[in-house]
Amino acid sequence: MTKEAYTLTSPDGSKSMELPVREGTVGPAVVDIAKLYKEQGIFTYDPGFVATGSCDSKITYIDGEQGILMYRGYPVEQLAEHSSFIEVCYLLLYGDLPNKQQLDRFATSITRHTMLNEGMLRFFNGFRYDAHPMAMLSAVVGSMSAYYHDTMDINNPEARDVFAHRILAKLPTIAAAAFKKSVGQPFMYPRNDLGFSENLLHMLFAVPAEPYEIDSVAAQALDLLFILHADHEQNCSTSTVRMAGSSGANPYSAIAAGVSALWGPAHGGANEAVLRMLEQIGNAGNIKKFIAKAKDKDDPFRLMGFGHRVYKNFDPRATIIREMCHKVLKQLGHTNSPLFELALELEQVALKDPYFIDKNLYPNVDFYSGIIYRALGIPTSMFTVMFAIGRTVGWVAHWQEMITDPNAKISRPRQLYTGPAQRDYVPIAKR
Ligand code: SDX
Repeated sequence: MTKEAYTLTSPDGSKSMELPVREGTVGPAVVDIAKLYKEQGIFTYDPGFVATGSCDSKITYIDGEQGILMYRGYPVEQLAEHSSFIEVCYLLLYGDLPNKQQLDRFATSITRHTMLNEGMLRFFNGFRYDAHPMAMLSAVVGSMSAYYHDTMDINNPEARDVFAHRILAKLPTIAAAAFKKSVGQPFMYPRNDLGFSENLLHMLFAVPAEPYEIDSVAAQALDLLFILHADHEQNCSTSTVRMAGSSGANPYSAIAAGVSALWGPAHGGANEAVLRMLEQIGNAGNIKKFIAKAKDKDDPFRLMGFGHRVYKNFDPRATIIREMCHKVLKQLGHTNSPLFELALELEQVALKDPYFIDKNLYPNVDFYSGIIYRALGIPTSMFTVMFAIGRTVGWVAHWQEMITDPNAKISRPRQLYTGPAQRDYVPIAKR
């Protein structure tokens, strides 16, 4: 909806233009600069896209000042309390909460897509014994475009829907296969009599030698963590999926690009980095030393799990996960988890420090999630893989929104060139 406009005038006053302002449902308006270069011969400049909107989207809304996160208009707190991950997947993909028949049909379809092509399983035999699970995940997800040729036509709605169900269902199976490879245990096939999170626990921890009893508290904790990780508007990995998909690349390759972007410690890799940081700190007596390192501009160390591009207040997901930590640790019998106590103490010290207060650095989604994964018996190297299992539905929803956007075009930013002016080639004898 175009409402008003900014007037932009060139520094010498010789040229000016109207830049239309567009309002969304809620949140900051945007100023449309699409005609800026054509009419003024200049680009905007915003490294890291701190203040740049890349698209229209109806999927997720975040208010960083108020600590608000909504999926299709539903506050994440309400979904965390009342919904399930499979129901949230339906909501993110189709835009509304399903009725019972729709949910049952969707859940059954996901269940029926959990198995992998047997050829894909053989990839895991080729990885080194100590391959990082994220390296295996990104490789095997990318290989899906070498198998599922019936869902490569991005202009076919049915193919897009089958792709969505297929990749949501197979991500946990691939993740579990990567874990089994890393611990030298046999791969466990999915079971169609289990729900999404129960099935993942089965594939992760069951062994052929004996029955495996699924802990309902663990399954509930995983389901809640997946809900909280499901989507987060135009974050780094989601923007990567949109960017890769905008070239018309097949959807499996676009998602594989998202997996790779998520791996970075500044993004989804932070949950693994938080646990390694807590282990490095070791005890509360060392907290002050590490806070000082985090504040030292000459020291690359940052307090992992703190800070966020958008949240300049508490990350609502961190608040929910912190509360869940208490409950899950107690119910799983880890009442005095030294890691959790250290994390609580670190949070208290950091939140009282002027540096963190001045820069609005609060715990984010990654600060506590690793403590729960650890309590569930999931190793640190698998934490970002767990993040990817939850976030795949967000990546798919945004890819579908981008592909079906009539105004979508290939993403191709410009730059400020600061390299050498034109110069002539110098023969090597004269260099
Ligand atoms: C996720 O975008 C999303 O939505 C991401 C995510 C999602 O769901 O997809 O929410 C998931 O990625 C959460 C973030 C996980 N990353 C970490 O926990 C890593 C530690 N955090 C930082 O790397 C950092 O806070 C970022 C990357 C998260 C945000 O970086 P920004 O917005 O680019 O902020 P910045 O780097 O410009 O920092 C602003 C200032 C800087 O100091 P000055 O240059 O202004 O003096 O704050 C400082 C930074 O040095 N700072 C930190 C800090 N984070 C920022 N100092 C110490 N420790 C930190 N963690």
